[in-house]
Amino acid sequence: MNPFVYNSPVRGKDFFNREKTVEKILKETVTGKSQGNIWITGERQIGKTSLLRHIQSLNENYSEKVKPYGCDKSFNVAFIFANVQGCTEEESFYATLWQSLKDYFDFKLTKAATCYEDFINAVNLIYNTKNYYVIFLIDEFDAFVETISFKKPQSATKFLSKLSSLLQEVDEVNGGSKAFSCVFTANRDIKELLNENHIDNRGSGLIVEAVSLKWFTRKQVSELADLYLCDNKIKFSAKEIDLCFGATQGYPYFTQKMLSLMYEAKKNVLSEKEYITLVKDEFGEMFKETIEDWGGDKMPMRTLKKLKDMVEKMNLADAVTKVIARMLEIYIKSKIGI
Ligand SMILES: Nc1ncnc2c1ncn2[C@@H]1O[C@H](COP(=O)(O)OP(=O)(O)OP(=O)(O)O)[C@@H](O)[C@H]1O
Ligand SMILES: [Mg+2]
Repeated sequence: MNPFVYNSPVRGKDFFNREKTVEKILKETVTGKSQGNIWITGERQIGKTSLLRHIQSLNENYSEKVKPYGCDKSFNVAFIFANVQGCTEEESFYATLWQSLKDYFDFKLTKAATCYEDFINAVNLIYNTKNYYVIFLIDEFDAFVETISFKKPQSATKFLSKLSSLLQEVDEVNGGSKAFSCVFTANRDIKELLNENHIDNRGSGLIVEAVSLKWFTRKQVSELADLYLCDNKIKFSAKEIDLCFGATQGYPYFTQKMLSLMYEAKKNVLSEKEYITLVKDEFGEMFKETIEDWGGDKMPMRTLKKLKDMVEKMNLADAVTKVIARMLEIYIKSKIGI
């Protein structure tokens, strides 16, 4: 059976690499001296959700304690995942965080007047009574900020500045030290998000440690193939790994997709030349459809530029590469309004 995964976040033993990134996130939020926040930037389908889900799975046997800066007590740690893409206003953002806390801790609290107050009450209970320091894993954060700023840029500024002070200290909870940290994922960094959405950056700057997710190296692509094919009769040669890396540059989603195409093609009896032409053509077609599907010129400038760089290095047929490069150029031009 074809073992490669490209339709959903990867889980369990399919989760490959990222050890250093995980370590960095834990150091910043849990094991380091002071509890900070993280902003993870990465293109579409690079593995943001997979990474957060992986960190969430640490809950199963995590014994590390946290001693927040300025506080004498030690706390247990809980990693709480929330996808905020569908939230359309500040209240639904806090309601989503509240719900994910409730799913994990299953508390009973009387409803307050606002979702924000419910959220604060829940954090209070979890921190002061249950003795847990929460690390929120907030997926698709920029999509949410974009949604609220699209309606009214000032509401995004207001929301970010309130969240920013919550992230420094939660006076409502314990009158001093921080009660939780956040790990945000986004398709762009904060500055790009604010600029592209005309959000006033005064007072809206969250204090976060920036982490940029990397594509896989040639060596990692080879290791990924070995991992996924460990129980399989089919194996890829060094030349085939070069073919995959040449077409994908190690972009995680495209890497898995290409390995999958190669796996299927290998089942047919083809000459080497026919095999290479087939997978390159199929990959080129799929690549074109995927970037159209990702929203064309609606993609962040950063992603468009990254894809353009990738296309310049691609080892596909010249005609295919030209079509894709032209398409991206049109998107970039329409984005900057030429
Ligand atoms: N750590 C990983 N190991 C193996 N494959 C990965 C990994 N991370 C990402 N991938 C590949 O990338 C694909 C997309 O992963 P994921 O859904 O986590 O990305 P994402 O950045 O959250 O995407 P989106 O921008 O759509 O939210 C996976 O289906 C898989 O093919
Ligand atoms: Mg995702």
